[in-house]
Amino acid sequence: MSLKSCSISLRILVIVASTRPGRLAPAIAEWFTDATRSDADRADARFELADLDEIALPLLDEPEHPSGGVYRHEHTRKWSRQVAAADAFVIVTPEYNYGMPAVLKNALDFLYEEWAWKPVAFISYGNTSAGTRSVEMAKQVVCALRMMPIGATMSMRIKDSINNGRVRAGVELDNAARRVLAELTRVARAMRPLRVIDNDSETSRPVTALSIAAASEDDLGELLVLQRCCWVQEALANDTLDLAPFRETLADVRAWSDSWQVWCARRNGRVIGAVRARTNGPAWEIGRLMVAPDQAGQGLGSWLLAYAERHAPADATEFALFTGQRSQNNIRLYQRAGYTLQPTPVNDSSDISVHLTKPMHQDVERKSRDATVIAD
Ligand SMILES: Cc1cc2nc3c(=O)[nH]c(=O)nc-3n(C[C@H](O)[C@H](O)[C@H](O)COP(=O)(O)O)c2cc1C
Repeated sequence: MSLKSCSISLRILVIVASTRPGRLAPAIAEWFTDATRSDADRADARFELADLDEIALPLLDEPEHPSGGVYRHEHTRKWSRQVAAADAFVIVTPEYNYGMPAVLKNALDFLYEEWAWKPVAFISYGNTSAGTRSVEMAKQVVCALRMMPIGATMSMRIKDSINNGRVRAGVELDNAARRVLAELTRVARAMRPLRVIDNDSETSRPVTALSIAAASEDDLGELLVLQRCCWVQEALANDTLDLAPFRETLADVRAWSDSWQVWCARRNGRVIGAVRARTNGPAWEIGRLMVAPDQAGQGLGSWLLAYAERHAPADATEFALFTGQRSQNNIRLYQRAGYTLQPTPVNDSSDISVHLTKPMHQDVERKSRDATVIAD
């Protein structure tokens, strides 16, 4: 785990889009990354592999539209984190019956915002068509997801370019791969600022140049440090250091990030706030709302709270959260947002936390309800 939060390295996710026993796709992906590795190093880009066979997503089994970002299943959350962390994609795809493999379409359909405003390059292969019809079909789909297919592509005829399951490496093919990488990294850097603005308009944000995204593995170290900083005030207010955010290790944060949806807000490359949420019975439970101490007082806490609320699933009936009994500032923030304190159980006098809830009104602008508008 690195704390590369401020790094500007580009993360390129190479998606291996076939799953058939005896498939060619892994060898082609390996050839592509080998052929372009030194150029990638020079461009400060690093590859990550997403082999759809290993990822093994079932056929789309999420009840909500993916544009809401409300995921019930761990396999979706894991896929979401992997795709959200990427700055660009290389899709290594064959052609099946004049189209893209079903496993690729399914993997694309699982998510929405995680793909958006990122470039994608295709490395295709096949018999007569060299996979070009598969790419044409995939382009329609990736454009709907707000990805940008780059101009440089590689289309290999198996007869000409593959021998015994391996790419017949040569200067011509290697140079074509390097051109793909050069264009992909160039466009990826140019597109980064687009992702600062997501479905909220920039003007509705409490501070400028603020971006928010699902937390990825690379964010967790910084998140751990931030939560320790943020809980100092809680410790002082409640006169105890015995608080989970202090005790937790990186492994603990990683463990809970698997069962909660977690979002990190960044400004100029730095994580300045975060919040998590999950379904808990009929409630959409929100927690670990944190704002870096030097960024307090600008409305970030209320904005993060509203952001988490908008991701509630359509069938939730209330919002719920916990805070320290004596955390007056937090309690005031939640009360201003419409939360009311709930009675503490009498047999639980050792617990220093209080429970607040807010009914979910019809007028709450939930992302899940936006879905039909966002997605064409
Ligand atoms: C179900 C199926 C359909 C195919 N359809 C096409 C096709 O329409 N056009 C083509 O050029 N090759 C077609 N092929 C040949 C594939 O391009 C070739 O088998 C390739 O190796 C498949 O990729 P994979 O090995 O990674 O699975 C098809 C292969 C399969 C298994």
